Amino acid sequence: MDATWKVFFLHLLISLSSYTSSGSTDTIDSTQSLRDSETIVSSGGMYELGFFNPENSTNRYVGIWYHAIPVRTIVWVANRESPLTNQAGVLKVMEPGVIVLVNDTGGTVWSSNRSSSAQTPVAQLLDSGNLVVKDADVDGTEENYLWQSFDYPTDTYLPGMKFGWNFVTGVEVFFAAWKASDDPAPGEITFHLEFEGYPQIFLRRNTIAITRIGPWDGISFSGFPDVRGNPVFNLDFVMDKNGVYFQENLINRQVFRRLRVNSNGVGQRFTWVNSTQEWEVFRSVPADNCDSYGLCGAYGICYIQNAPACSCLGRFVPRDSVAWTTADWTSGCIRRTNLSCNGDGFIKYSGIKLPDARNSWVNENMTFKECRVECLKNCTCMAYTKLNLSNGSGCLLWFGDLVDIRSLSADGQDIYIRMASSEIDSRVLEKRILIASLTSVTGIVLLAVSLILCIRKMNKDSTKGEEGGKYSESEHEESDITFFKLATILKATDCFAIENKLGEGGFGPVYKGMLEGGQEIAVKRLSRTSTQGLDEFKNEVIFIAKLQHRNLVRLLGCCMQKDENMLIYEYMPNKSLDAYLFGDSLDWPTRFRIINGIARGLLYLHQDSRLRIIHRDLKASNVLLDSDMNPKISDFGTARRFRDDETEAKTRRVVGTYGYMSPEYAVDGIFSTKSDIFSFGVLVLEIVSGKSNRGFSHKDHHLNLLGHAWTLYKEERSHELVEASLRKSQDLAQVMRSIHVGLLCLQQNPEDRPSISSVVLMLGNEGMLPEAKQPGFYTEREPIVSQNSTTTHATNSPNELTITMLDAR
Ligand SMILES: *[C@@H]1O[C@H](CO)[C@@H](O)[C@H](O)[C@H]1NC(C)=O
Ligand SMILES: *[C@@H]1O[C@H](CO)[C@@H](O)[C@H](O)[C@H]1NC(C)=O
Ligand SMILES: *[C@@H]1O[C@H](CO)[C@@H](O)[C@H](O)[C@H]1NC(C)=O
Ligand SMILES: *[C@@H]1O[C@H](CO)[C@@H](O)[C@H](O)[C@H]1NC(C)=O
Ligand SMILES: *[C@@H]1O[C@H](CO)[C@@H](O)[C@H](O)[C@H]1NC(C)=O
Ligand SMILES: *[C@@H]1O[C@H](CO)[C@@H](O)[C@H](O)[C@H]1NC(C)=O
Ligand SMILES: *[C@@H]1O[C@H](CO)[C@@H](O)[C@H](O)[C@H]1NC(C)=O
Ligand SMILES: *[C@@H]1O[C@H](CO)[C@@H](O)[C@H](O)[C@H]1NC(C)=O
Ligand SMILES: *[C@@H]1O[C@H](CO)[C@@H](O)[C@H](O)[C@H]1NC(C)=O
Repeated sequence: MDATWKVFFLHLLISLSSYTSSGSTDTIDSTQSLRDSETIVSSGGMYELGFFNPENSTNRYVGIWYHAIPVRTIVWVANRESPLTNQAGVLKVMEPGVIVLVNDTGGTVWSSNRSSSAQTPVAQLLDSGNLVVKDADVDGTEENYLWQSFDYPTDTYLPGMKFGWNFVTGVEVFFAAWKASDDPAPGEITFHLEFEGYPQIFLRRNTIAITRIGPWDGISFSGFPDVRGNPVFNLDFVMDKNGVYFQENLINRQVFRRLRVNSNGVGQRFTWVNSTQEWEVFRSVPADNCDSYGLCGAYGICYIQNAPACSCLGRFVPRDSVAWTTADWTSGCIRRTNLSCNGDGFIKYSGIKLPDARNSWVNENMTFKECRVECLKNCTCMAYTKLNLSNGSGCLLWFGDLVDIRSLSADGQDIYIRMASSEIDSRVLEKRILIASLTSVTGIVLLAVSLILCIRKMNKDSTKGEEGGKYSESEHEESDITFFKLATILKATDCFAIENKLGEGGFGPVYKGMLEGGQEIAVKRLSRTSTQGLDEFKNEVIFIAKLQHRNLVRLLGCCMQKDENMLIYEYMPNKSLDAYLFGDSLDWPTRFRIINGIARGLLYLHQDSRLRIIHRDLKASNVLLDSDMNPKISDFGTARRFRDDETEAKTRRVVGTYGYMSPEYAVDGIFSTKSDIFSFGVLVLEIVSGKSNRGFSHKDHHLNLLGHAWTLYKEERSHELVEASLRKSQDLAQVMRSIHVGLLCLQQNPEDRPSISSVVLMLGNEGMLPEAKQPGFYTEREPIVSQNSTTTHATNSPNELTITMLDAR
């Protein structure tokens, strides 16, 4: 036999036997077919095509998975909506160029379609994971493919795919999650590149937007920032008359990356890690609550580290302030000062995820200056930003309300929002300061006078409310407060730049700043609309200026102008205790030091200071931590001063926080040092257990944290309350003792609760402790609000409301 004949017989053999040696080749032609037991492998050994059944299902599907990875990871499914019910399926390539999947009766279960025909069509699995149909005689470039699986992906993005729209073929490449882990049919979760306005990526459940990624700023997608200068892959975003798409290309082909949308509505970016032999999730969207589309409404901004997470952008106020304080943010925010169209300007907001750009306009050639002019021209243009499209130029304008903004301190962008001229011109304010401080002495005198007048006026106003007379004796003691010039504060906080905002306190935003000498400060700024805040502001000035203790936050001074009331504190780099408490990030010695520090601060308030003060709102978020994790009690807005002969008082205005309030205070409005002791007891249990009293739930019972602790204590199982990572602590005896002291502080009857000096002694020594009696509020989740209370005014977080109940009597 000569060589020609040998080749002929070989061909014949292969076509007759269909596939015999699986993995030896990466193509199927029209003379071959792929049976259920067979697979083909891409030439570089990366991917494999074959039949599979999902876990817990007997249905058979044709799919692609990684050949090079031991964990079976399906990246594509052909017949996702039409499973085979047995193992008799066969995959074939037919003229003029389609792949078909037939069942045992020869019926077509699934088929690819095509844009043109081929003489000798072959299907080939490429090393990118792309299954393509092409003409065997024609060069295998993308334009020549008759069909490719990269145009019809299932739930997984693989590097090289063009995610978006091809206007020439009319094909949209998008992703739909599996219906369930055992059913690859398209579920209700989809991931589309939408090009209404300016292109963005939306993750949706049916038609409802779950989260938004984008828009593209020329370098990365806003809100999906892990893309700059990566050595492993590069990114392309193409937008022209032929299409709009996003493409990621691997530089190092040995790295496996994929992005998958799952049926829970989460998009996850995975990378295979050789050393652990596992897929690691590198990024998820939505990553957190602030990624929920439009959470904070129009002109709202979401800060994930804040509670509550939503605030209004600076110079905007809630549209519906009642709804806003009850954590219903849907109505969003409105301008503090209306636009006038002519004469408006812009204010820059930095470090944000750019708002939804569906109602926007883009020009790739405009410079930054032209962009601003363009926006000014049209009164409905609300904001602009610069893009880096062609050679660094590019302009994006927004029309209509700005929605879905979040703070991204490290990876955020800048946006310039249209603003009435009076909001921009801070020179007006500064001029007033200048006059007041022409000579600094007159300045201070003027300010001091205005402060006293102001306080006196406020006192008069508040006497119609309640025990306002209690403040009167402290009026003439005000002179030892330091007054800051507004210009100093504006400079220190960069004119209240949004990136300096630390959060939203009970009566307004708090900003970080740095004084000329380098001292870091926190500035509490009373919002102009807050009337309750004015009382609290006054209260805080009166009290905290007099107090100096290492476990109380220190007031450095205040700043008062006609419109601005601000308190200036030392800056606490470690935020508040609630940021650490719930979890295992603190070891026991630190927790114990915090418990003792709070006790000492309280001791000072109750007994040692010049005033006798009841804090009334002691809670984790009011305990700040300095750089050494020393606790400092803060927020004296609701504090009350007691005369020496007073032991308890009654109020019609109950202020405090659910979960921390003692029963006699929440129900009857009776407060004393013992109601602070109760709050301290709650804090101790939270610190030991790592759990919040308010958020606590247990599968076995309906008790709150206090009830749970009490039950365990009675059964001598208190160790089960302890946060898991602390159970092995060498100081378990100290942990148990702290629980015991905490329960003593929580006893139902205020008289039974120890004084703070006893608490300090009990914590620091080893003597016998009295038996704890039943705690107050150990079943209820919320205190019973007395029936005739008429208004409930809430400030602060949704989980941790500082509430005020006014009793109409
Ligand atoms: C398969 O079923 C078992 C038992 O019902 C279950 O534990 C497992 O999570 C299921 N696997 C998947 C992928 O759904
Ligand atoms: C095979 O497929 C055809 C077409 O989808 C269908 O009508 C037929 O019921 C299938 N046969 C079996 C045994 O599943
Ligand atoms: C190809 O088939 C898909 C469904 O598999 C369909 O959505 C698409 O419109 C078809 N394209 C053409 C050109 O027929
Ligand atoms: C991971 O392991 C595979 C198989 O051993 C190898 O081909 C690949 O180069 C490795 N990748 C990296 C990034 O080390
Ligand atoms: C601002 O505009 C809104 C809506 O146009 C209007 O209801 C409101 O009265 C205006 N406020 C002021 C202070 O002019
Ligand atoms: C931007 O400039 C390029 C090249 O000068 C031009 O082709 C394009 O049409 C311009 N685009 C717009 C929107 O003006
Ligand atoms: C302002 O922009 C809107 C939205 O693009 C457009 O409909 C309107 O015609 C523009 N008005 C002017 C005066 O250009
Ligand atoms: C960008 O700059 C390069 C070099 O300066 C120039 O050749 C190119 O035409 C520019 N592209 C556009 C779109 O302006
Ligand atoms: C635009 O992006 C390129 C890199 O893609 C960068 O080198 C350039 O500095 C950027 N230009 C501006 C104005 O940010």
